[in-house]
Amino acid sequence: MKDHLLERFRGDGPARVAIIGMGYVGVPLGVALAEAGVAVQGVDLDSQRVDSLNRGQPPFPDLDAEHLAALVAAGSFRATCNHGVIAGVDATIIDVPTPLSKTREPDVSLVLRALRQVAEHLHPGQLVVIESTTYPGFTREVAAPLLQAGGLRLGRDVFLAFSPERIDPGNPVYGARNTPRIVGGITPACAEVAAALYRRVTPEIHVVSDTDTAEMVKLHENTFRAVNIALANEVALMSRRLGVDPWEVIDAAATKPFGFMPFYPGPGLGGHCIPVDPVYLSWKMRTLNFAVRFIELAEAINTSMPEVVVHRLHEALDVRSRTLHGSRILVLGVTYKRDVGDVRESPALEVIRLLRDRGVVVCYHDPWVPALDAEGIPLRSVPWEEEVTSCDAALILADHVAVDYARLVAAAPLVFDTRGVTRRLPPSSNVVRL
Ligand SMILES: NC(=O)c1ccc[n+]([C@@H]2O[C@H](COP(=O)([O-])OP(=O)(O)OC[C@H]3O[C@@H](n4cnc5c(N)ncnc54)[C@H](O)[C@@H]3O)[C@@H](O)[C@H]2O)c1
Repeated sequence: MKDHLLERFRGDGPARVAIIGMGYVGVPLGVALAEAGVAVQGVDLDSQRVDSLNRGQPPFPDLDAEHLAALVAAGSFRATCNHGVIAGVDATIIDVPTPLSKTREPDVSLVLRALRQVAEHLHPGQLVVIESTTYPGFTREVAAPLLQAGGLRLGRDVFLAFSPERIDPGNPVYGARNTPRIVGGITPACAEVAAALYRRVTPEIHVVSDTDTAEMVKLHENTFRAVNIALANEVALMSRRLGVDPWEVIDAAATKPFGFMPFYPGPGLGGHCIPVDPVYLSWKMRTLNFAVRFIELAEAINTSMPEVVVHRLHEALDVRSRTLHGSRILVLGVTYKRDVGDVRESPALEVIRLLRDRGVVVCYHDPWVPALDAEGIPLRSVPWEEEVTSCDAALILADHVAVDYARLVAAAPLVFDTRGVTRRLPPSSNVVRL
């Protein structure tokens, strides 16, 4: 079975792949595989999303519509709600969400559901890869028994691997084709088969010893980011107390060509990964009686940032003899980072909530997000040029490149910049930075 799959995955072999979960991760991977000559079936529960994909329209504004449309027209990428297609493919890749529960514990229910759907249609000579982020041990302890329950042997009849997704939405330089891939298999044969499939997309595959290691690699990468962002946030707080500009400090430190990597402060963490993934690791470690310190400290600092932003904005208005209560604040950028359309876990939502709680009238501009549900209150993006002169302050929460910040600074009575985007502009007395 291994040789049969290696043959289908190698070079321009006739590989057929189903991807479960047509989201931020699944769609770009499907596009990359289809462009490499693989016949891709994207499976999703959401029929609207499936219909739009089959019309060649990506579900998110930051995905390349032209590529997708061409592949759909050529018949190499199609989407479906029917998990039955798994029965006819060589590999199934799982890209469904792995959020946190209300009590902030790993919620793997969607991966479990997807795995059961795979198990139903699993056949000898099939590879299954989990890409959804999960805790170390999940693939071996939970997924493997589920797939073996019907009597198929892993590493001989069917193959199971974990390969963490490393996509960085909005990154114009690194994508599926030039980001090295980590692969860990339940057996060496599982890793070999999975590596052969991914080699269709990217030449650099780094095979690790097992699935636990591959799962830990992903959590290390994202914990590294969460901890370093927390450090940058604390450097910002310390610098302000010392009377120095944290952005100048970090930019200057970044001139060191070795032993330093710049991370920048901001209004808090967002997205589906960085605020969530470290909690998967700390939860797992608690089950092993291991007290995780870095992750919890970083979480405490990062989640305090929306309050810090509101407090500093309050101070900046105060100095100008204005009050926060009753003011009109124009928020620029509501996504969790620059040039994406994703508001999941965005700190802007928390900042807007805190501002409204303090009696602020909030409006927003975001070229990527035409409408926003702010805790049940619908808001619509407004042209910033129309609001900027009548607001009390413009609050930059995501530094989208489409906004002309020089014009914004020239027009706004006060600009509070949480992303440091104004530091490249000439100094101005109406700009305050985090
Ligand atoms: N978004 C990122 O930047 C990113 C980066 C790296 C890793 N990841 C990880 O990748 C995984 C997927 O994240 P995402 O951002 O693509 O999620 P997403 O919410 O954008 O998309 C997931 C899709 O899966 C579908 N789905 C859920 N259960 C299904 C099922 N049983 N069958 C078919 N479809 C199903 C949903 O309808 C949705 O369309 C998560 O574990 C995430 O942590 C995400």
